Amino acid sequence: MSVKSKNTDPTFYNSLDESEKSAWWLFEAGIKDRKSYFHTPVVVSKTKTGTVNPRTMVLRAVNRSALELQFHTDKRSNKINEFAVNKSGAVLVYDMATKVQVRIDAEFRIIDDLAILEDRWSKMKSMSKECYAVSKPPGAELENPINVDYDVDGVSNFMILSAKVLQLEWLYLCYKGNRRALFDYRTEQPVKSWLVP
Ligand SMILES: Cc1cc2nc3c(=O)[nH]c(=O)nc-3n(C[C@H](O)[C@H](O)[C@H](O)COP(=O)(O)O)c2cc1C
Repeated sequence: MSVKSKNTDPTFYNSLDESEKSAWWLFEAGIKDRKSYFHTPVVVSKTKTGTVNPRTMVLRAVNRSALELQFHTDKRSNKINEFAVNKSGAVLVYDMATKVQVRIDAEFRIIDDLAILEDRWSKMKSMSKECYAVSKPPGAELENPINVDYDVDGVSNFMILSAKVLQLEWLYLCYKGNRRALFDYRTEQPVKSWLVP
């Protein structure tokens, strides 16, 4: 499936079901496609004082039937502390190539199941593993950026962050007329509606 503009309208243009499918497909394809903006969504948490904290993260896995996106991170990082206090957050992507923006309200949780973490860790490249072996936690002050101490292994700092999608908003920009749709997964049957763009 492709959502790149052609002369004909994309299949999702006037279809809620196809728009929803395309949103999930873009995330799935974004795991491997480093050029897609769906590869690096913005993940937003809330701070203790109620402000929001956005950061870019690499999308690592998608489970469409469980309505779940997964990211890798360091368990010592701010975001993990913030999601432990307030599990509500957001995910945002705008992909210029497809002219699609997706906004997600999500409930975040930390996956700390040892078997799952070890399996994921075993599939990671050593360069990615190295980030987790830095002795000081992410965000700690450094006197000199050249002098960074490493522990032997970073696996104990490695965490999977899961975002359960509660609501997904789709926006497709098109010169013939934009399309905006809302997919609400909080009810047993998802509620799908068109919105004024
Ligand atoms: C392209 C890109 C990809 C990134 N991917 C990740 C990631 O997958 N996991 C992660 O924890 N941080 C990632 N970061 C770093 C975060 O944006 C952020 O700076 C870091 O996690 C600290 O955030 P925090 O203090 O809010 O926890 C990435 C940054 C960029 C620019």
